[in-house]
Amino acid sequence: MATDGFVGVFDSGVGGISILRPLVRELPHERFVYFGDSANAPYGDKDPSEVLSLSRHIVQELLADGAKAIVIACNTATSAAAQTLRAEYPDVPIIGVEPALKPATLAPHHHRILVMATAATLSLDKFQRLEDRWGSDSEVIEVACVGLAELIEKGDPSLPQIHELLVKYLAQWRGKVDSVVLGCTHYPFIRKQIREVVGDVPLYDGGEGTARETRRRLTEEGLLAPAAQEGSVEFRSSINTPEELKLYERLFDLEV
Ligand code: DGL
Repeated sequence: MATDGFVGVFDSGVGGISILRPLVRELPHERFVYFGDSANAPYGDKDPSEVLSLSRHIVQELLADGAKAIVIACNTATSAAAQTLRAEYPDVPIIGVEPALKPATLAPHHHRILVMATAATLSLDKFQRLEDRWGSDSEVIEVACVGLAELIEKGDPSLPQIHELLVKYLAQWRGKVDSVVLGCTHYPFIRKQIREVVGDVPLYDGGEGTARETRRRLTEEGLLAPAAQEGSVEFRSSINTPEELKLYERLFDLEV
């Protein structure tokens, strides 16, 4: 595989853009193609077999177009599809994302950790294994935020319905948790709104860790772009309209 291929990054929609940003910071010479499956979002309420088949289709297309590595910038798709896709494409580095429970449990205050994620992520084995590994000396409170990613897909973090849903899911935990893990890549776009409801506690997401892991895998495979290459980002979406692509660009530039 050639170093001049691109890194394909995908999610059910706009969420993975929160992973793309640290990726671009960590790997400024890479060419990235971001694919958001907004036409099929949300993934979090779907059967894992459907998420696998949607993910497989996206990976096939990205590889056919010249991807040298894939970043699954979606906790739900990582849980439902990463293992199978790695077995199907053993020569392609496929990097996933997982709820940042490890850094949350390594922080000085980790008595009670709240994990926000999709229903699918919390129900699949991968999360249970993560919790067994890192959550043993903490109380881990799992909150399946049904409907939240769908609202964030609309591209306006200040929507009143987002605040209402956060109050429904999180208000009861205000002042009662040491940290919050953002276990869905859509949630970093509403950091401010989450803090307004749950209080001023550390929020952990998988962005930086995924970016470092991607660098490590590209280096290991001899696939890092040469320093002379100019990095770039291209957005693609299954809702292929100029408005949708503009929304992706706006979220990429948004300060959160
Ligand atoms: N952004 C995704 C995740 O990290 C999925 C959200 C959804 O489509 O339900 O889980």
